[in-house]
Amino acid sequence: MLIAGNWKMFKGPAETAEFCLGLRDEDLEGVDVVVCPPFVSLAVAVQLLAGTEIAVAAQSVHWEDEGAYTGEISARMLRELGVYGTIVGHSERRQYFGETDETVGKRVHAALEAGLFVIACVGETEHEREDNRTEDVLRRQLSVLEPDDNLVLAYEPVWAIGTGKTATPEIAQEAHAFVKSQVEVPVLYGGSVKPDNAAELLAQADVDGALVGGASLELDSFTAICRAAIRS
Ligand code: 13P
Repeated sequence: MLIAGNWKMFKGPAETAEFCLGLRDEDLEGVDVVVCPPFVSLAVAVQLLAGTEIAVAAQSVHWEDEGAYTGEISARMLRELGVYGTIVGHSERRQYFGETDETVGKRVHAALEAGLFVIACVGETEHEREDNRTEDVLRRQLSVLEPDDNLVLAYEPVWAIGTGKTATPEIAQEAHAFVKSQVEVPVLYGGSVKPDNAAELLAQADVDGALVGGASLELDSFTAICRAAIRS
């Protein structure tokens, strides 16, 4: 089981330090834990979690090593910092920053080549689900990805992100089974995962962990979800 906390655009270096100091005192044996702070907070997270089993990952990465790409960060730079992995293709990047299946594919490929662990995100919008297009959308998003030992996927239905509307365990299981039929790697569920719904989601056969947004920002709720994973 893998529990990853996607902090999105929350926590600068000071708040990151406070969180990591608390996290390293927790006993989380039995679950793989990853935190994904904003770029500016990666260094302090790497420093404070060094020597623990908790990994630090970025939220995106560019596909070139260096170049004229204002605002971007390369896999080589992340590696230099001691960062373990990165999220790629989060729906917020697709929705607000023009991320496409093609750029997701390029970012994932470059990150894996550079030796980073990758959490690649897929998921349909509410409209696409209502139109019965969920499988078509997932198939298209997954068409740019190939299995790799350092790749996991996150199924994050867009309608469940930050809305408090969680996919039912049945919906999650069905989507995860479909995702695995396309690209056979572990699949995390993301979308309003909270301490009180984590256990039933994680109990599904093809749910291999969670990518947690809002509930990963507080130590108590994040570690409660990690403990639900340990028990499942
Ligand atoms: P929430 O857990 O806040 O719904 O966010 C999910 C998410 O987008 C994780 O990447």
